[in-house]
Amino acid sequence: MARQRKHLSAANKEGKGRYSSSSGSSSSIARSLQENYFYWRQLLLIVVIGIAVVFGYIGYLETRVNTPFDSKKVVSKRGLSVPELFWGSYRPGTYFGLKTRDPFSLVTGLMWYFPHRLEVGGDGIRHWCEQGDNLSKYGWLQHDGNNFGLQEILDGPFILNTSFVKRAGGDHGGEWTARISVDVHPSHKGKVNVNEQVSLIWYATLDEETQSNIAPTNLGTDITGIRGETLLLGQFNMKLYPYKSSVDHESFLSTVAPGLSHLKETVISSLKIAQDNPTSPKKLILGGEYIPVGTEKKKTNFVAVQLTAKLPFIVDVAYESKSNLNINEKLIGDVYTKTMEWHQNRFNQRFEATFGLKSKGYEKREIYFAQAALSNLVGGIGYFYGCSKVQSYYTSDPVNYWMAPLFTAVPSRSFFPRGFLWDEGFHGLLICQWDLDTELDIMGHWFDLMNVEGWIPREQILGVESLAKVPSEFIVQRNTNANPPTFFLTLDYILDRYEEDLSYERFALLERLYPRLQAWYYWFNTTQTGPVPGSYRWRGRNPLAQRELNPKTLTSGLDDFPRASHPTDLEMHIDIYCWMAVASKAMARLGLLLGRSSYLKYQQTADYLLNNDMMDRLHWSNFSQSYADYGLHTDAVKLVRPKPLPRQQHQNLEMTRKVLKQPEYRLVDTTFGYVNIFPFLLQILDADSPKLSKILTDIRDPDLLWSDYGLRSLAKTSPLYMTRNTEHDPPYWRGQVWININFLAVQALAHYSKIKGPNQRQARRVYGELRSNVINNVIRQYYRTGYIWEQYSDKSGEGSGCRPFTGWSALTVLLMSERF
Ligand SMILES: *[C@@H]1O[C@H](CO)[C@@H](O)[C@H](O)[C@H]1NC(C)=O
Ligand SMILES: *[C@@H]1O[C@H](CO)[C@@H](O)[C@H](O)[C@H]1NC(C)=O
Ligand SMILES: *[C@@H]1O[C@H](CO)[C@@H](O)[C@H](O)[C@H]1NC(C)=O
Ligand SMILES: *[C@@H]1O[C@H](CO)[C@@H](O)[C@H](O)[C@H]1NC(C)=O
Repeated sequence: MARQRKHLSAANKEGKGRYSSSSGSSSSIARSLQENYFYWRQLLLIVVIGIAVVFGYIGYLETRVNTPFDSKKVVSKRGLSVPELFWGSYRPGTYFGLKTRDPFSLVTGLMWYFPHRLEVGGDGIRHWCEQGDNLSKYGWLQHDGNNFGLQEILDGPFILNTSFVKRAGGDHGGEWTARISVDVHPSHKGKVNVNEQVSLIWYATLDEETQSNIAPTNLGTDITGIRGETLLLGQFNMKLYPYKSSVDHESFLSTVAPGLSHLKETVISSLKIAQDNPTSPKKLILGGEYIPVGTEKKKTNFVAVQLTAKLPFIVDVAYESKSNLNINEKLIGDVYTKTMEWHQNRFNQRFEATFGLKSKGYEKREIYFAQAALSNLVGGIGYFYGCSKVQSYYTSDPVNYWMAPLFTAVPSRSFFPRGFLWDEGFHGLLICQWDLDTELDIMGHWFDLMNVEGWIPREQILGVESLAKVPSEFIVQRNTNANPPTFFLTLDYILDRYEEDLSYERFALLERLYPRLQAWYYWFNTTQTGPVPGSYRWRGRNPLAQRELNPKTLTSGLDDFPRASHPTDLEMHIDIYCWMAVASKAMARLGLLLGRSSYLKYQQTADYLLNNDMMDRLHWSNFSQSYADYGLHTDAVKLVRPKPLPRQQHQNLEMTRKVLKQPEYRLVDTTFGYVNIFPFLLQILDADSPKLSKILTDIRDPDLLWSDYGLRSLAKTSPLYMTRNTEHDPPYWRGQVWININFLAVQALAHYSKIKGPNQRQARRVYGELRSNVINNVIRQYYRTGYIWEQYSDKSGEGSGCRPFTGWSALTVLLMSERF
């Protein structure tokens, strides 16, 4: 990559050098001969250079997509230079596990099963967060993003608590203890066999062939543990200490696993039945020193310890570093209990100091919910390492991005346990209130993933564990495709709160961020432009789609929200117009703060886009009295199943779209939903605008967007309300209530209700109603189902989509605290 670019500039320099050395001969004949000679030589040279330049240029274009942006990285401290963040629950995709912020971390984690309930093939062994496990609840109840966490898991009639506490010390990132306690849930006491057992498997694994090693041990206790050594951790020990309970039997596994993505399979294939003597009960144990058939003996990279015990059972897993010499007390047993209590108290205080829910009069159960929501967002922060697969117009096949780390929160631990660009901007609004430096670190990691074009891939699938969860057709990221630049919202929000007291270090980070923000902005402002000045258009819609009722706009984040029925280059999207206004405003603000003269250019663009007359000319429909996309559109489309051909069997013809009336260029104003209210959502509309008044009336209308559970994404009156986009795709952004957009709406209402004028009163009224509808329903559903959901039904309020979804749905906490 970088080599190609160097090559090109070297060729240029060489060409220039030869040119200038050709003058200065004396004899005229000789000179003309020589000139002739030089002429041909030069011509040849130019041709050769020309060819080289063309090929070089093609090569250069090919490599741009995976060439890193050329400026100082934003993240300046990583790994052990941030010892307090070295260890963490950075594996959101597993029920419980700890690893370090290091590309080649030692990875630890938990699997469990109930031997009497284990099904053939290993069904019933829990490891990765899977919706199919059908757990009635799981998630962090408290987690401060750093020092401790406490999770509750309801698995059938059983309750598991998993918690951890960290302790600083030594030169290798400190130590921690994890506690796992299992019991019959109080509501099932007496209904479960008294001999019911649990098997807990604690494991450690090494990601890569490195200098590291791990091995089982039973030094010090009679329970097997794991010991090892890695470059960054030095020598360490993990010992298992049953607490106030005893173990029926234990076993271990020491083997070569084919990779992080196959740990559970490796455990299952090693499990075997054993019996102490012919009359004793059978038991299920791990395979000991185990070499799977067909693998040659390589270095052990996976060690697991299984403890099987009757309920209730509690075990402490203490990770101890050899470098930490001055330990007087082990962090186990009663000491652990006390330390945990101390952290919980501190957490409660900090939570109240940050969000003030108690002082607002919220009840205990509401605060419990809010703590869980925040804790799952910050407890869901992961550390990933790997490279995306990307493709550009100039690469014939997908190519690898560069290997890089990403520190990020995730939308859903089960369904989306990886980084998503536009989600992360929303996450940042809550995270920055809890811990600004963590949020800045997250933003830094994301912006360090920017390529030389100023593009950041939208979905980050880094590492084998992440890859194993994504269908292959979604892996490749295209550099033409955007995603809403929500980080500008985060940035603006951060400046609102912290502009006055930015420490030197934070200021310096913003300075490193600025050139990347400029490049990002420039990328949007040049690649996503629309057909007329001031207009913008999302790329990535497929005009050739046959099966979709309305070709999706994944890049906008609002996947199947109806747009123009026939994608063309002439369409204009109102939501990206508003995003660009927000981006321009935020850039101007930051530029000014950092004393950059470039701020002026952003201010000019902001003023230009914030001019409501301009927005109205492009997007206001006199007919429907609403803002709308513009494009080649007809509402007369439907999905039909093609007639089977005569005399052919087993025809399974998929439904395709039929266009009943030719489309025409127009505003897509028969549709009304989230997209149409973006000028209000992102506060682009002037506070005294009659159009704002119209929107406030429309969102309050139960036939349009109003529901008792929040604003629905698409009006009941819109042609595609709650319709399937293909026979396989159920509606997604076609009626359901989404929390991120409702957050923007409540935030906008708060804004407009502070500005004197014709709309103030109405804004204030709707603010109160909408805010409590959303909060009440999300809490109600949490207690009803055990989860926070991806979206909510506009008819019943029930959660739908995936769960737990504690990404932007966790913004409910900000709605409660009214921090906008
Ligand atoms: C999931 O669990 C619920 C109760 O917790 C039960 O009613 C339901 O049948 C289970 N579904 C599956 C597919 O196991
Ligand atoms: C699990 O945690 C909950 C909430 O802190 C607590 O009420 C319960 O007693 C704990 N159960 C066990 C078995 O530790
Ligand atoms: C954004 O693009 C528009 C249209 O191309 C241009 O007029 C404007 O100057 C650009 N803004 C900035 C800040 O580059
Ligand atoms: C919409 O109405 C306004 C005010 O009546 C008018 O100025 C404008 O030209 C109309 N726009 C269109 C596209 O008809």
